[in-house]
Parts: sequence; C-alpha cells; structure tokens
Amino acid sequence: MASIQYSLRVDQYIYSFLMGYVISIVNMKGGVGKTTLTVNLATSLVKDHGMRVLVVDLDTQVNATLSLMPPLQFAKLKQENRTLKQLINQVFQADKDSHISIKQIIQSNICQITGFDLLPGDIELYNDFLLASLIYSHSSKNQLDFEKSWKNLEDYLLTAIIQPIIQDYDFILLDFPPGDYLLTRSGIIASDFYLIPAKPAPLSVVGIGILEGHINKLKDNKRSQINLLGIVFSSLGHSTNMALQVKNRVTAEFGEDKIFNIEIPMNVAVAKAVDEFKPVILTEPKSTGAKAFTELTKEFLQKLSKMANISQDPHFGTSK
Ligand SMILES: Nc1ncnc2c1ncn2[C@@H]1O[C@H](COP(=O)(O)OP(=O)(O)OP(=O)(O)O)[C@@H](O)[C@H]1O
Ligand SMILES: [Mg+2]
Repeated sequence: MASIQYSLRVDQYIYSFLMGYVISIVNMKGGVGKTTLTVNLATSLVKDHGMRVLVVDLDTQVNATLSLMPPLQFAKLKQENRTLKQLINQVFQADKDSHISIKQIIQSNICQITGFDLLPGDIELYNDFLLASLIYSHSSKNQLDFEKSWKNLEDYLLTAIIQPIIQDYDFILLDFPPGDYLLTRSGIIASDFYLIPAKPAPLSVVGIGILEGHINKLKDNKRSQINLLGIVFSSLGHSTNMALQVKNRVTAEFGEDKIFNIEIPMNVAVAKAVDEFKPVILTEPKSTGAKAFTELTKEFLQKLSKMANISQDPHFGTSK
C-alpha cells in the first residue's frame, strides 16, 4: 500500500504542472468509443495517478452518466434538477437569487473513488432550434445582431459554467454527442486539448475530417485555441487491409506523433461493464480492455506533458 501511495505522489509531482486542463473527447461520428474512452481515462487518471478529475456529460443520451451511476440515482438527480440542464437554464434566467451553484450539482466520489467527480448530463437539454428562438427573441428585443448573439453564446456558455470549478481539478473531461451543435462548439471553445477516438474504418475517418473542418474554422476566427492531443484507434485484435490503409492515411495527414501507440481492443468486458454502471477498469481490471485503457492513460499523460512543455513556447497556441 505504501509503495502505491508513494508512486501516486511521484506521479502527482511529475505531472503537477498539468493542472486544470479541459479535454474534449470528440468525433463527429457516432459509436466510435467517445464515452467509453472518457469514463475509463477518467477512472485511470484518478485511481492510478492520483489526479482529481471531473467528467462533464454533454450528451442527451446521458451515456457517460449512466456508465458511472445506476439509472435510479440519475432519475433522483433529474427530479431534483441537479443536472447540467439546471446550469444551462440558469444562463438564461435573470433571477440570480434562485441560482444553484455548479458545486451543488457535481456528484463526488463517483464509483466510490475519492477525487472522481461527475457533472451529470440530462436527456432534455436545449436543442439548437430552441436556443435559436431564445436568442432571436432576446436579440430582437435588445436590437442586437442575431448571428453575433449566437456566437457570443457559443463562446460563453460552457466556459461560464465550468469557470468556477476549473481550479478544483487536474482534468475536466468533456463527453460529447455525435454531430455538431451549439453545445459541442461551446465545449470545444472551453477546451485546451482534444482527443479523437476513431475506428479504423473509412466512415469513422470522415467524422474526423468534418470535426477538423469545424475546429479549424473556430481557430481561424480566433474563437478557440484548442490543440489536438492525438487520435485513439480501436482495434479488432488483428489488422485487416482496410484498417491498415485507413490508419496509414490518418498518420500521413496528422503525423505519427498524433497517433496513440496504444489501441483499444474490442473486448466483451468493456461492453459488459456498462451493465454494472462502472468503467471496465473497475469491473474487470485484468481484461484486455482495462489494461489497454490503463496503458493509454500513461501515454495520454506523456503526450500532454510534452505538449504542455511546447506550450511554454510563445508560438504555441494554447489557452493556458
Ligand atoms: N473496446 C470495446 N470493446 C467492446 N465494446 C465496446 C468497446 N468500446 C466501446 N464499446 C461499446 O460500443 C458501443 C459504443 O461505444 P461508446 O458509447 O463509447 O461510443 P460513442 O462514440 O460514445 O457513441 P455515441 O456517438 O452514441 O455517443 C457501446 O455499447 C460500448 O459499450
Ligand atoms: Mg457517447
């Protein structure tokens, strides 16, 4: 036990300059392993490296939330309005006296692990249509430009929500829905780095291309300073020609240093863990899936510390 505590302290010392990073785990394509990567990376960062981590569930499918707590517990939180929805609603409510703080909504000691927190998602977040009508009525009442008001909300929404608690964590991991929505762009704008989980299949790579297009546009307009940490491929355990071709194409486009060496194998233990509302690292730590996520977390920290060092260079565009 003493040696584990010692190695945790060493990790905390080595990576102590990595405080308060917001990381997007994102791909425009659905079903590529975004949520599974988010919850397992978070678990390993806390359990194996002694970091303080918050997972923020931005997806109305609430998969991250339900991968970390039983549905009954989520139902109770929803009934008590202790989900992300409350925080988003408050952005539009002038009555500050009735506001509750993000700290009252965050759930601590997730899966009974100290330092592991969750900002629960909600099945009923504002969709873009509803947001558009709210912004339209607000901007026409105040004689403001609609497009400018929309962009302002994107720039502000998620940054404002997480701002009060950023310093309480080493990492804040954002789990996104597939596709491009206001909340997705707002999360990207609030982030320092992003990870792209991908299947080595042509359509998964299309999702990367679309994502890169959106992110480059935000960066060109100086609305985001996010940097790509790397692409995490899942693997079938054997290489097909198609998978190799896809990986070679992505490596040629992004560079070898942007492709994680560790690949996540398809492993039934990973899928089964969802049924226990815990990440596979906790349910079956000896499974190939859990081991891959544990190794991936080490590579994640190495990549990040390298990028953070580069970020001392004034030409490197990071917001920290
Ligand atoms: N390594 C793996 N081995 C086996 N099953 C996996 C693995 N990774 C993910 N899965 C399963 O594949 C499905 C999709 O994974 P996940 O929900 O993480 O993808 P996603 O990108 O978050 O999906 P969405 O776009 O719908 O949010 C889930 O049922 C999950 O349990
Ligand atoms: Mg998901």
